[in-house]
Amino acid sequence: MLQPNPNLSDLVSDAAAGLKQRFQAEAIITAAAPGRVNLIGEHIDYCDGFVMPFAIDRYIVIAGHPNGSHEARIATAISEDIATIDLTELQQVSEPKWANYLRGVIRGFQDRGYTIPGFDAFILSSVPGGAGLSSSAALECATATFLEGLLGIHLDTREKALLCQKAEHDFAHVPCGIMDQFASAFGQPNRLVLIDCQSGEPEMVPFENPDLTVLISNTLVSHELSDGGYAARRKHTEDGLSILGKASWRDVVTADVQTHWEALGEPVNRRARHVVGEISRTISAAAALARNDFEALGPLMAASHDSLRDDFNVSCKELDILVEIARNIGRQGGVIGARMTGGGFGGSTVTLCESSKASEIAATLSAEYEKATGIQPQIFASRPAQGAHLIQ
Ligand code: GLA
Repeated sequence: MLQPNPNLSDLVSDAAAGLKQRFQAEAIITAAAPGRVNLIGEHIDYCDGFVMPFAIDRYIVIAGHPNGSHEARIATAISEDIATIDLTELQQVSEPKWANYLRGVIRGFQDRGYTIPGFDAFILSSVPGGAGLSSSAALECATATFLEGLLGIHLDTREKALLCQKAEHDFAHVPCGIMDQFASAFGQPNRLVLIDCQSGEPEMVPFENPDLTVLISNTLVSHELSDGGYAARRKHTEDGLSILGKASWRDVVTADVQTHWEALGEPVNRRARHVVGEISRTISAAAALARNDFEALGPLMAASHDSLRDDFNVSCKELDILVEIARNIGRQGGVIGARMTGGGFGGSTVTLCESSKASEIAATLSAEYEKATGIQPQIFASRPAQGAHLIQ
């Protein structure tokens, strides 16, 4: 039931083989960047909150070589088509759509005064797409890292992540926060990336206990964050803050939301309750994890899911079903906590559980979810993995 994670070294050699087959060239530069899962702190990265994701052991790999021209030619494993990008031009949104992530990142380098030499590249991914696991941030961070290799430069990690976030804003039209690109860029083995989104500072928090397993269950119900739901939520939080007359959500307490409940109006009042509650839950969860207090951590994850479902309205039937199954397995069955992860409207859940029972839990999640929905979910486990890097 537990799907294995493809080896990064296998992906790297498959990408090199793809480059050879499509462009008859040897890989000179290879970059890899991971997706992410978020343990807690959802939809508050754009509200100056705290978030606690980590880079997962699923990667996008780009293998390439300079081609001596002024064009980038990019092939992928999923289509026969080759996307061509004229590097003499300042990049704009264009077709095919998937290449906009690369165009957006190239544009970020162009805006910093870099001239990108022509290259051919082949892209391969083990990050499930549309699964709330940040395959887009992985593609952006892999592209940026590849370009660093091509140019022989090294951007500051924070600047690289912000460049990638801007690519997502301007070229994919998703007004995302900083969580995904930070997790993909800063990730380290055995470390959570606890981000204070007000200061923009990531703190690497140890997550080494072999008795803990993080299960990621993909509902296989896909979402498009650019279809407006995400932007609408972000707008609600901005409206809420201005009605409350505060400069930052960090200055807002639960009593403020209660006092202004009528003035905030529906649904902004519920959105506000989520933001304030989730910021405090994430701070408590980080503290609980630090003292190995799983009895405290589980209920915080549960409350996070309920708030995303009832107040922020970004869950969906399939996510609720998976979370419910995990809850029914309960602490005796080895489940510490479960919730939806990522932007929502489909995608994946995260289940923190005891390693000795992880396979059994995955089997139950899979069987019960299939019984309820007719869909066989994709379930895998991941430990915190290495962030975006060049393969030497
Ligand atoms: C998406 C966005 C992130 C974050 C999450 C929700 O993944 O890209 O910035 O807002 O949704 O927590």
